[in-house]
Amino acid sequence: LKVGYNKVFGYYIEISRGAAHLAPAEYIRKQTLVNAERFITPEMKEYEALVLNAEERIREIESRLFQQVCQQIAAAAPKLLSTAAALAELDTLASLAEAAAIGEYCRPQLTEDNTLDIRDGRHPVVERTLIGERFVPNDAVFEPGEFVRIITGPNMSGKSTFLRQVALIVLMAQIGSFVPARQATIGLVDRIFTRIGAQDEIHAGQSTFMVEMVETANILHHATNRSLLILDEIGRGTSTYDGLSIAWAVVEYVHNHPRLRARTLFATHYHELTQLAELLPGVRNYNVAVSESEGKVVFLHKIVPGGADRSYGIHVAQLAGLPQAVVQRAAEILRQLEASAGKAVRIDPLAARQIALFPETNPLLDELKNLDINNLSPIEALNKLYEWQRKFLEKGD
Ligand SMILES: Nc1ncnc2c1ncn2[C@@H]1O[C@H](COP(=O)(O)OP(=O)(O)O)[C@@H](O)[C@H]1O
Ligand SMILES: [Mg+2]
Repeated sequence: LKVGYNKVFGYYIEISRGAAHLAPAEYIRKQTLVNAERFITPEMKEYEALVLNAEERIREIESRLFQQVCQQIAAAAPKLLSTAAALAELDTLASLAEAAAIGEYCRPQLTEDNTLDIRDGRHPVVERTLIGERFVPNDAVFEPGEFVRIITGPNMSGKSTFLRQVALIVLMAQIGSFVPARQATIGLVDRIFTRIGAQDEIHAGQSTFMVEMVETANILHHATNRSLLILDEIGRGTSTYDGLSIAWAVVEYVHNHPRLRARTLFATHYHELTQLAELLPGVRNYNVAVSESEGKVVFLHKIVPGGADRSYGIHVAQLAGLPQAVVQRAAEILRQLEASAGKAVRIDPLAARQIALFPETNPLLDELKNLDINNLSPIEALNKLYEWQRKFLEKGD
């Protein structure tokens, strides 16, 4: 004799077919199976009601208790939330304190003028992620009358890291934190504006360049002379001459507009921009130091005064495995270009024939011969180059 349960008629007693005839008379037959008969009894049905009700009551009590707890919590919500907020603040402050202690940060001095004086500043994240390499600290000291600092240097030399570290140090100082530097005096800023491209920007199409320009426009419209501007490779998202011209014009605008004249860090791989320091009194050139010995180039990650003297693009091309003949020829052409002091492109006649850049019948060559270089402004020279390239490419088609 077994007791079972199913959804159709609840609890039942099951007796095998052979013994079914022994079932007491008060058993009520409910179902006949191949090997068994199923019965119920009135007493069993009473217990069934008790059991089923009990389950329902369990759920009822549980839900009532749960609601009670919820109400109690809801009633205490303001207290709980303010405790959480206090703990969060404490947690933040304790974390900043811990980072300051572990990272040997310093207490920055805040002033109400336009000072920016960071000695041996570090990037709080990059310095923690370097493996087997020491982070090179850098100063960011703006002298009186300096607004725009142009930082030139090859790819991977540390320009972006430096820009970001200055922005982070200023931000950390203003939220009341110690900063990753040996010493820092920072004039309060009203806003920090950044225009920093994504890493994949080099393969970018029109739309990314559009984003770059929209962000730049926003900065130029809203920055004040109390702002900090971080402009990383503006103009990179378009063709060289477009990009260089835009970058040039942006620096001029930031430097000359009376509302702006904001402390600005401008990283660029356009060496031409270093000429701006001669033209605008508030512009200074800095570059990332590179050490070269026995043809090996090492980036020192140190930001030093002066414009970068060369781009090391050919060095990178060599590392990438370009044929030696191409690398050597490129170096040769570069030397010739550099010999012309960057004012105009003069390829020696032999070289010109070898690479057939300007075939003898080309009218561009005549124009180049007759050009009065000494009376060209850098921008006019650029425009000329741009025009020649366009003509040359049209001919090439
Ligand atoms: N001050 C520094 N000290 C040590 N390593 C650095 C420093 N600055 C940058 N680096 C290293 O160089 C890499 C490239 O730096 P990044 O700022 O992106 O260069 P760039 O913007 O000039 O192309 C970083 O990922 C980092 O590993
Ligand atoms: Mg960069």
